[in-house]
Amino acid sequence: MHNKSYKTLIWLQWLTTALTVTAGVVSGEYFKPFNVSYDHRALIIDGQRRMLISAGIHYPRATPEMWPDLIAKSKEGGADVIQTYVFWSGHEPVREQYNFEGRYDLVKFVKLVGASGLYLHLRIGPYVCAEWNFGGFPVWLRDIPGIVFRTDNEQFKEEMKRFVKKIVDVMREESLFSWQGGPIIMLQIENEYGNIESSYGQKGKDYVKWAAKMAVGLGAGVPWVMCRQTDAPENIIDACNGYYCDGFKPNSNKKPVLWTENWDGWYTTWGGRLPHRPVEDLAFAVARFYQRGGSFQNYYMFFGGTNFGRTSGGPNYVTSYDYDAPIDEYGLLSQPKWGHLKDLHAAIKLCEPALVAAESAQYIKLGSMQEAHVYRGDNTSICSAFLANIDEHKTITVQFLGQSYTLPPWSVSILPDCKNVVFNTAKVVAQTSIKVVDFEPTSSAKSSGLEHLMIQTESPLVSDSWMTLKEPIGAWGDDSFTVQGILEHLNVTKDQTDYLWYITRVYVSDEDIAHWKENAITPSLKIDSTRDVVRIFINGQLIGSARGDWVKVVQKVELKQGYNDVMLLSETVGLQNYGAFLEKDGAGFKGQIILTGFKNGDVNLTYSQWTYQVGLKGEFQKIYANDNDESSGWTSLTHDKVPSILTWYKTHFDSPGGKDPVVLDMSSMGKGQAWVNGHHIGRYWTLVAPKDGCQETCNYRGAYNSDKCQTNCGKPTQIWYHIPRSWLKSSDNLLVLFEETGGNPFEISVKTVSVETVCAHVSEDYYPPVKTWSQSSYINGELFADQLNPVMELQCEDGYTIESIDFASYGTPQGRCQSFSTGSCHAPTSTSILTKACEGKNSCKVEVSNSVFGDPCPRTVKTLAVEARCKPSSSTTSWYTGLSEI
Ligand code: GAL
Repeated sequence: MHNKSYKTLIWLQWLTTALTVTAGVVSGEYFKPFNVSYDHRALIIDGQRRMLISAGIHYPRATPEMWPDLIAKSKEGGADVIQTYVFWSGHEPVREQYNFEGRYDLVKFVKLVGASGLYLHLRIGPYVCAEWNFGGFPVWLRDIPGIVFRTDNEQFKEEMKRFVKKIVDVMREESLFSWQGGPIIMLQIENEYGNIESSYGQKGKDYVKWAAKMAVGLGAGVPWVMCRQTDAPENIIDACNGYYCDGFKPNSNKKPVLWTENWDGWYTTWGGRLPHRPVEDLAFAVARFYQRGGSFQNYYMFFGGTNFGRTSGGPNYVTSYDYDAPIDEYGLLSQPKWGHLKDLHAAIKLCEPALVAAESAQYIKLGSMQEAHVYRGDNTSICSAFLANIDEHKTITVQFLGQSYTLPPWSVSILPDCKNVVFNTAKVVAQTSIKVVDFEPTSSAKSSGLEHLMIQTESPLVSDSWMTLKEPIGAWGDDSFTVQGILEHLNVTKDQTDYLWYITRVYVSDEDIAHWKENAITPSLKIDSTRDVVRIFINGQLIGSARGDWVKVVQKVELKQGYNDVMLLSETVGLQNYGAFLEKDGAGFKGQIILTGFKNGDVNLTYSQWTYQVGLKGEFQKIYANDNDESSGWTSLTHDKVPSILTWYKTHFDSPGGKDPVVLDMSSMGKGQAWVNGHHIGRYWTLVAPKDGCQETCNYRGAYNSDKCQTNCGKPTQIWYHIPRSWLKSSDNLLVLFEETGGNPFEISVKTVSVETVCAHVSEDYYPPVKTWSQSSYINGELFADQLNPVMELQCEDGYTIESIDFASYGTPQGRCQSFSTGSCHAPTSTSILTKACEGKNSCKVEVSNSVFGDPCPRTVKTLAVEARCKPSSSTTSWYTGLSEI
C-alpha cells in the first residue's frame, strides 16, 4: 500500500515536473496558487476557513528515503498539514557555508509534502529548542564577539536575520509558498520566547517587536506565528503549546486559536524511563480543543525519529526521539495511537462545515462536570456538537437536545449532526500492534532460497570477527597545546567532537607520601562543577568518572612520588537546548580544580599549565569511514581481550533480508558512538533507568504529565539503534564503534523491528466506523447510528499476513492484548468466525454484533477481543522491492 502511494507520488512529481517544463512556468507546481489569511475563527485558505490537523515531522530525524512514507502515513492518518522546524546548525555548519543536502534537503522535503497534497507549517525559529543540539543554533554563533542570543543585540539580530531571510528566499525561489502554488501556508519566528523573555528585561520586549517586524518584512506572504508569546504584535498570531490547549485565548480577538505543539508523548534522557501518553487522553485533549474553539492543532511529534550523529540536545538526551508518537522511530505505525487519532480526525472533519460556519459555539451546561458546545451555521441544517465529561471517575448520562447520551469518564463524544455520536475519545476501536525486535536472516541468506536452513544456522550476532584499535590516552596530535588555566570546553572544541582532554602534572614529594602514610590519608581531586561526563585518569589509569548537569566531583586519587599525570577527559552529551543565555552555558568545568590532602595544604590546579587535546585520534582520522586504511594499526580482537576502555572496534556485516527496519542491539556495550558505512548512527549508552516510578497499568483519566504512564523501569533506557535501510548494502557493511567504558562487541547483534501481534478490543456499545458516515448521509437522513454496528478491523504491516488467530472471544473477555482470557460469557463461534475472516489475509473486518456471533448472554454488553499473529507473506515479490528500485 505504501509502495503504491510512493509510486503515485513519484509519478505525480514526474508529471508536475514535466508539465512545468513544457509550460515553461515555475509557479503552481503543487496547487493552484492560493492565499492564506485568518480571522478570529480560523486560518482562511483560498477564501475558506479551515479546521486543520497538522503532523510534526522533523526532516533530519529521518532519511530522505523515509520521507515519502512518513508523509503518506501522516496523510492517511488524517493530517492536512506537515509541520517542521528548520535546523540552523545543520544548514549552516560553517558561517555562510550553507548545506541543503541529504537529511538537510529541506527543499526536497517541502516538495514531497506539496506533491502529496498536504500543506506545510515551516517553523524557522531559528531558535528551535526541539531537544536538538544547542537548540538548533550553530555553535560558531557563540564566538561572535559581543553576541547575546535572543535579545536586542545587534550581532545576534544580524545573524538571525541573515539566516531567516536565507530560508525565506530559498522557499520563494523554489516557489514553495501557497501564493506560488506551493504547500507553505504558515511560518514561525522564534520559539516559546515568552518562557524566558523576562530574563532580558526591556531588551527582550524590544527583541520580540524586532523579530516580528523583521519576519513580516521578508515578504513571505503567509501568516507568521510565535508560540507562547503573549505579547506577540498584532500582525503575528500567538499560539499555544502544551498537553492541553482548550480554553487558550490569543492576545487579540482578531486572531484564531492555534495549537502549535500538542505533546503527544515526551523525550527522555540517558538513564531515564520511557514516557507514554495514552491515546484516550490525547484524543480527549484534541477533541476538547476543537470543542472550545480551536482551529489548528499540531502533534508534536507525529513522527519523532532519531537524533543521528551528534544532533541530540541536552542535558543528556538519548539518540532515539521516538516521543511515543503515532508513527514510531522506525516509521512503523504505533497502534492504537495512529488508528484512534485517524478516527478522531475523520470525526472532526465531519464537523468542519459547522465549525467554520459558526462564529462561535453555543455553550450548554449538561451537568456539574459535563458540557456541550454546539456549532451551527446560518443554514440551520448544519449543526455539530461536542459533549464532554471531564469527570475523571464517573460515567455520566446526560440529556442533550432531547436525547440521552452516556459519556465515559474524561471523554468527549462527537456529534457531527448534533444527533448521532460517531466517535468517543475513550472508546478505542483501533487495533493494538505489538512489535518485536528480532533476528531476521541476512538478505544473502534470503535470496539463496535456503531460508529454513539459514535461519537455523545463522547467528543474530553482528559478527564473530572483530578488529580493534586503542585510542591513545591523553594528547595524540600536533595540534595539542599548553596554556595556563582551565579553558571552557566549547571554546576549545567548537563542538567538533564530544571529547576534550585536559592534562596537567603535579609533583609529589617524599614528605607528602610520608604524610599520607602517617595520617592514613588518601588525597582527593575536587572539581567544583562539571557536565556532562568526566573521566579521571592518573598516570594513564582510569580511576573514576562522574556525570551530571553541573555537578561537584570529589575523587580519591593514588599518587606516586615524583611527577604524576592528571588527565581529565571531558565529554559533552548533547549541548543545552533550553533556557536563557545559552551562549554562556558552555561545558567542561566551572570554578576550581584542587588536589586536597597534601602536606603543605591543597594544591590548586586551576591556574596550572594545562595541555589540551581536542577529540579522539580515530575520530579525526575518520577511521569509521576509511575501510581500507591498513596503516592505522587495527588488529584482530580475540575473545579473551575484551572489555577494554577507550577502544575502537570494527567489523563487517550483512544486512537482514526484507524491508523491516533494522536496529543494532548494543546492550552488551557501555558508552560510545557508532558508524555504519561512514554514517554516524548516534551516541549509545547503556545507562539503566531507575527501578521505581513505572506503573503496572496506565490510567488515561485525568490530566497527563510526563511522569505519568512511564515504562522501562530498571532497564537500559536505549539498547536499539536505528540503521536506516538506505544506509545499508545487502552485504559487507562497515560497522565502527568507539567504546569508552568497556563492553563486549562480540555480543552486538543486528535485528529487525516488525509487528508480530495485532489485537482488537471492540464493544457493542462502541461506534460504527467513522468512514461509514458522510456529511450528506446526515443531511439526507440516510443513516442512523442505531442501525449500524461497530466493526473490528485487523491489519498486519505491508508484506505480512495473519497467520493465526491466537485468541477470539465475543462475550465478556478479560485482560489485555497478549493476556486475554474468556469471561463468563463467550460465544463458541468466536474463533471459527475470526479464523475464517482473517487467516491468510493482510487485513480483515468483522462486525461486532449478535447477528454475526449469536447472542451468548442477552442483556449484557458484549465485547469482541481478538489476538492475531502476523507473519511475512509467502510471496517474496514485495519482499525485494526496496524503495530504491521503484
Ligand atoms: C517545547 C519546545 C519544543 C520541544 C518541546 C519538548 O517547549 O518548543 O521545541 O523542546 O518543548 O519536546
